[in-house]
Amino acid sequence: MGAKQVSSSLVLLALISILVVSVSAKIRDSTLKKIKEINSNGPYLGLLTVYPPEEAAFNASRRFRVGTVNDVKVIYVRCGVGMVNAAAATQQLADFFNVRGIVHFGIAGSLDPTISYGDVAVIKRVANTAVYDMLNPNAQTTHSHVTKDDLIIGEYHQPKAENESSNRLGRVAFRGERFFPPKGEPNVDISETWFNSTKKWVDLAFQLVDKVELNETGLPQKPKVVVGVNGSTADISLENLAYRTFLYDEFKVSVHDAESSAVVMTSSSNGYKVIAIRGLSDLSGADKAGTPSYRDITANNTVAVLRDFIQILHENNEA
Ligand SMILES: *[C@@H]1O[C@H](CO)[C@@H](O)[C@H](O)[C@H]1NC(C)=O
Ligand SMILES: *[C@@H]1O[C@H](CO)[C@@H](O)[C@H](O)[C@H]1NC(C)=O
Ligand SMILES: *[C@@H]1O[C@H](CO)[C@@H](O)[C@H](O)[C@H]1NC(C)=O
Ligand SMILES: *[C@@H]1O[C@H](CO)[C@@H](O)[C@H](O)[C@H]1NC(C)=O
Ligand SMILES: *[C@@H]1O[C@H](CO)[C@@H](O)[C@H](O)[C@H]1NC(C)=O
Ligand SMILES: *[C@@H]1O[C@H](CO)[C@@H](O)[C@H](O)[C@H]1NC(C)=O
Repeated sequence: MGAKQVSSSLVLLALISILVVSVSAKIRDSTLKKIKEINSNGPYLGLLTVYPPEEAAFNASRRFRVGTVNDVKVIYVRCGVGMVNAAAATQQLADFFNVRGIVHFGIAGSLDPTISYGDVAVIKRVANTAVYDMLNPNAQTTHSHVTKDDLIIGEYHQPKAENESSNRLGRVAFRGERFFPPKGEPNVDISETWFNSTKKWVDLAFQLVDKVELNETGLPQKPKVVVGVNGSTADISLENLAYRTFLYDEFKVSVHDAESSAVVMTSSSNGYKVIAIRGLSDLSGADKAGTPSYRDITANNTVAVLRDFIQILHENNEA
């Protein structure tokens, strides 16, 4: 995803009858009482998005909005951009509220030539692709734990001076996260690269293909829903063709954003069902100069998919 923020769009908010709870560092007794009341009416489906552009800037507390979408009880929260915000908001949902599972949604950048503007991807598994060792140029080949080869920066050094084979930035060797599994040994973290959306939910999401009404006005192609892609997450706004190609080739990832792996990892660590749905508003550096912004139409298409998916979860007694 580039400089664009992930948006929830007004479509969704309009559906929610609002009761607002702010959870900040110091929680007042009155807030805890309200949370208890809310929870006694649960369980809810947790909906977590990133940054509706229309909302005001920084506020240390998060607002949890309680309501219904298609008759399903939901708690909606906007986490803010980046992996720490995403993990913190997910943990707050898990700690404070009576939720059955978490549906994460937003916009993203495509790394995959078959997925373009306005399409919506349901992510099957996602990796934090920015956990790495930054090595000297003379380090031994392939320190990466999780890709075939390192990212050798010298190989991108163009044009090379006659006497230069490389540069001093060396190479980047990728490793996984350290994960605390929900039923693991206490205090024992394991190395894990891929965090999975709940399989049953991904299987149900196949019903969305060719079913959701997506807006195609002004898009260069007819938009589609793609289910089961691999995702990349990092606190990196990706707008670089060479790095896009490296990630696509080495990690086989189709979409990039700054939150999904944090949400899926945190949900998994807490033993919650989870899925990530991301619309593609840009091509992560493969965009032609002068391409218009497809952010708003993509956000709306993402929400259209979200609404139909909530309906499917409901029909299958998952929400
Ligand atoms: C931040 O959230 C609190 C709690 O909801 C609210 O009272 C306050 O007005 C907000 N501040 C800003 C700057 O929006
Ligand atoms: C390459 O040659 C230039 C000019 O002769 C010199 O300044 C530079 O240090 C050399 N670079 C390397 C990597 O040897
Ligand atoms: C995700 O699925 C893969 C393949 O089934 C598995 O190897 C991996 O351990 C799973 N990740 C987690 C965090 O459970
Ligand atoms: C579809 O997108 C166009 C252009 O972005 C917008 O003007 C129109 O209102 C949208 N249609 C619907 C039904 O949302
Ligand atoms: C996702 O990753 C797996 C394992 O590398 C690969 O087999 C699969 O083709 C990838 N999926 C897509 C849609 O690229
Ligand atoms: C997105 O949806 C909102 C709410 O329905 C609408 O006001 C807006 O025009 C839509 N934008 C586009 C680009 O379709």
